[in-house]
Amino acid sequence: MTRPFYITTAIDYANGAPHLGHAYEKVLADVISRHQRMSGYQVHFLTGLDEHGQKVQQTAQKREVNPQVFVDEIAEIFKAMLKSLNISNDDYIRTTESRHQLVVQSFLQKLYDQGLIYSGKKTDWYSTRQEQFLTDKDRDVDGNWPEIYGEVTQTTEENYYFKLSQYQPWLIEHIKSHPDFINPSFRAKQVLEFLKEPLNDLCISRPKSRLTWGIELPFDHNFVTYVWFDALTNYYSAVADKNLWPADVHVIGKDILSPPHAVYWPCMLKALNIDPPKQLLVHGWWTVDSKKASKSEGNANDSLNLIQSHGADAFRYYLSREMVVGQDADFSHKGFGDRYKADLANNLGNLVNRLLNMVGRNYAGSIPAPSADEELEKSLRDLWSVTQKKYFDSFASYQISHALESLWVFVSAMNAFIETRAPWKLAKSTAPQDKARLDSCLAYVAEGLRLVGTVLLPIMPESAAKLLVNIGQPVPTHFEGQLNWSTVCTGRKVSEKCILFPQNEDSASGVKA
Ligand code: ME8
Ligand code: MG
Repeated sequence: MTRPFYITTAIDYANGAPHLGHAYEKVLADVISRHQRMSGYQVHFLTGLDEHGQKVQQTAQKREVNPQVFVDEIAEIFKAMLKSLNISNDDYIRTTESRHQLVVQSFLQKLYDQGLIYSGKKTDWYSTRQEQFLTDKDRDVDGNWPEIYGEVTQTTEENYYFKLSQYQPWLIEHIKSHPDFINPSFRAKQVLEFLKEPLNDLCISRPKSRLTWGIELPFDHNFVTYVWFDALTNYYSAVADKNLWPADVHVIGKDILSPPHAVYWPCMLKALNIDPPKQLLVHGWWTVDSKKASKSEGNANDSLNLIQSHGADAFRYYLSREMVVGQDADFSHKGFGDRYKADLANNLGNLVNRLLNMVGRNYAGSIPAPSADEELEKSLRDLWSVTQKKYFDSFASYQISHALESLWVFVSAMNAFIETRAPWKLAKSTAPQDKARLDSCLAYVAEGLRLVGTVLLPIMPESAAKLLVNIGQPVPTHFEGQLNWSTVCTGRKVSEKCILFPQNEDSASGVKA
């Protein structure tokens, strides 16, 4: 039986258009999902939309539309982004769906029945931008609210509270005894640092007098559910009928690790006697010209145009290659253009065309069997073993950029191998050992490209498949049996020409091998 693998992304706020940060997170989760599927897991990949809360209500009001009509429109826009990025999610959850609302209400009712929710009157600081309560700890050194909170207002009202604080000792112990719970681990240290101060109980309600756009509390019709309690529950509600819990990975950005995912969510689950998720995979922020890409800044929207102009695969490659998972990365059109040209069009794309061209010219389009096996061939084969191990080890800790870095060392080595072998000279020679070298040169490059194309399927599904098809290979659905150096390319028909990553000069003058 194949083992299930349940992966989620954060569900995006339905209060504006998708941007680079949203795109990246879905690509990261998709790359992992596809890689796990090919590794033999039964993957369930969930993403979705966070549709309730004050921000959505306010934005809908401003546009003078009913909030449901508004989120319906936004959902279509986010789904269109997923489609344009070739995201292979198995499900899409929207928090206005009844399958979700029912679970939120059952969670609340259970906690209430166990005496874990009480009503009280408190004065709180609240950031609508982050839909989050703040305490004086959140102020900066000068006593001001950091810019990410936007406008912060103070409210005194009757609300319901979840007894979060009583789970603090358990949570600290859980984080300490599960080193994989928060990835990368330096983020776990930050959470533990945060947990050195006593936790407050969590306000889980909003009076309808102030906010109507939410899930009604099952035990008091005058209130709706706090949007984070509502949103976090999506990971469970979407699979309530599927026997997939606990999730293997929640992919999230660093801004929503603590407290929502690292504190509220595990404590909510603990109180409900449900296992916590196995891992929070926390990525950093994309900045554009060193500022965080965000809806409020409106600075990251044109980056998504690259999907149309250069294809989803190139965009997926750039995002996966450029961001070290856990760190921030800076987006620029120049950075994208440089990688596109150097890594994709030249290093990989031209290599494919060189092969097709030489196999066409010297072997009537059929890949020869390797015959010479000298030091040079052996070292390329050996490099593949090293590369394969590095690639899969990096993937195992979701360090996709490192995986790609190793893979491109191998792609470069294939180019260097061709330069050294100089097949264009071998082709002119009549010496038998030169003929043997030419056979092997083309056979080895074809085999190397088959292996590269195979492991790249999760990153660039269409281009990698195109590569394989153009060298006469079937497109595998699983890695098993596909990753060892072999001679399966022998005798396969290659196509005449294949432009994987067109450049302007390609369309003008055609690619030279
Ligand atoms: O936080 N770079 O929604 P959201 C990288 N609805 N990632 C970024 C980013 C950037 N510049 N900007 C945002 C929410 N993100 C909640 C989540 S989950 C139960 C509820 C990431 O639309 C962000 O870190 O503000 C988060 O993981 C995701 O995009 C959605 O952000
Ligand atoms: Mg946000």
